[in-house]
Order: sequence, then structure tokens, then C-alpha cells
Amino acid sequence: MAIPAPVLHPPFHIVRLNHIALMVTDLAAARAFWADTLGLQVTHETVDRIYLRAMEERGHHCVILERSNQPVARVLGFKVYSEEDLDKAKNFFDARGLSNRWVEEPFQGRTLRVVDPLGVPLEFYFAMDRLPAIHQKYGLYRGGKPLRIDHFNCFSPDAQASVDFYNAIGFRITEYTESEDNGQLWAAWMHRRGGVHDVALTHGSGPRLHHVAFWVANPLNVIDLLDLMATTGYVSNSERGPGRHGISNAFFLYVRDPDGHRIEIYCSDYLTIDPDHEPLKWNLRDPQRQTLWGAPAPRSWFEEGTLYANTPIRPPNYQASPIIAA
Ligand SMILES: [Fe+2]
Repeated sequence: MAIPAPVLHPPFHIVRLNHIALMVTDLAAARAFWADTLGLQVTHETVDRIYLRAMEERGHHCVILERSNQPVARVLGFKVYSEEDLDKAKNFFDARGLSNRWVEEPFQGRTLRVVDPLGVPLEFYFAMDRLPAIHQKYGLYRGGKPLRIDHFNCFSPDAQASVDFYNAIGFRITEYTESEDNGQLWAAWMHRRGGVHDVALTHGSGPRLHHVAFWVANPLNVIDLLDLMATTGYVSNSERGPGRHGISNAFFLYVRDPDGHRIEIYCSDYLTIDPDHEPLKWNLRDPQRQTLWGAPAPRSWFEEGTLYANTPIRPPNYQASPIIAA
């Protein structure tokens, strides 16, 4: 199946992904994992919420952890280029008949909340409180030393429909996987920011969040994090890796937080900013697309994910079998 042509002049301009709000059942346990172990910096906290940012980030937050009985994802957040782009976004979603409304979010200016065609809760904002730079405050670096949020990966029950939607709002495909059985799109990696992806859409029951990823400077940060987790009670929280992906060429590690939310520690993908950058195609039966070194991903990696709040999931629109570790 042909992938859609890139939309180089989108209806409104998204800069990049910026933040995620995740519900957690034990806020203290979540803080110990996300701040003390992964190494994100706490920027504000209340009895019910913790706001965090990574070391390069000047915006107030890239992660919001919220106390809840249900460990779901509340929203995925994106920054646009200007306030005017928010109005253009509202016009676009109104014209498409997609549910949207203005919401109040602490530390953010005008924020437009939208539900994408598959049911994923998104929000778009331009203004966020700015904080002093800490990227050279080396005394603050801890754990995996995350520098910035890098991408979301989302299960979609109709990957083609999801890709068509994100393509329409300006995300451009860098790599994609097809099923050789039926030629259907299995997954696509799509960017606004010039890396391999801000968002990946992956075939599966959904919508669900597969993972949120954070960029680190080099693979040694991944090794350091594994050493820390293995000796501080988190050895079973490591799910897959370390390794090098075929898709994206990035070095990776997947870990699970105390509620099972999946987090990728990620570095060294490549530049994709050219408007005529040509997407790379992968076959679903090629295990090197998952891990260049050949080891297939575990079953949990294909089957488990985080639900979105108040969003029912449905099975994928066709059956296909990726290579899975026994
Ligand atoms: Fe990823």
C-alpha cells in the first residue's frame, strides 16, 4: 500500500512533541522511579501531581504524573509555532468534525484538547512557563541523565487511518513497515522536528500508548541506568535491550515504571529534516527491523500497553504476525 505524500505546508504548524500526562497508582513510587532513577528533574509537585522536565528542556514540564486508581495515559502534548497556529488548529479540527475544546492546564497558556480519529487524547499549546537552563548544572544529573523527551509510540487498531491523520497535520514519514502477507501498513515513524520521529503509529489493539521515549547523550547512559536499576530493586523493570534498532538506527532500552508504563531510553538516530527525505521501507518478517543485531522483541513488547483514560480499545483491523521471541 502506498504511503501518503508528505504535507509540506500543513494547516497549522506543530514544532514537536512536548509532554505526556500519565496516571499512577502510587505517586511516591512513581517519583522514586521517574526522578531518582531515570533522572528527570522535578519542577513542581502537589499531593496529587508531579511535574518533571529533562536536562535540556526550558519548558516547565515534559511529564506530568498524577495520582489515580487507574494507571492510564491522560493526554499527549504538542507545541505549535504560535498562538495563531492554535486558532488554525481549531479551525482544522472543527472542519474535520473532530471533538475539540479549550482547556486550562497549569503552567501552559491556551491549550486546545483534541481527540484524534482513533480516540487518542491530544493537546496543542504554544506558551508554557519557561525555566532557567540546567543543562550545564552537572551536579543535578542523575540516573540515565535524560536530555529531552524524544517520541511517543502508539498502538493503533487502524495504522493506515492514524498515519493518514498525522500526515494531514504535517508529520512526515521517515520509516515504515508493511506486512508482506497483505501489503498493509503495519507501522510508521513520523516527525515534525527533524529526527526519525515525534510519533510512531504501530498496528495493534488500541488506541493505547506503547511507550514514551527520552533522549540520552550516548549508549553509556543506558548502561549506567541498567547498572543502577539492577542494584536498586528495579531489575525486573527492564523489559527489552539494550540494543540497536534497525528502524531508526537508534540505541535503545525499554523499561517499565512501577505501574507498567513503558519508557524507552534512546539515542543516536539521524537527521531527516529535508523536505524530500525519502522514507525507508521494512518488511514485517525482517527481525532486524526490531533489533539490528537480530534478537526479536519479547511477546510483552507486542501485546502490552497503556490505556487512555475513558477510551475503549478495539482489535486491529487485520491479523499479521511479527517475529516474536518465545
Ligand atoms: Fe521508540
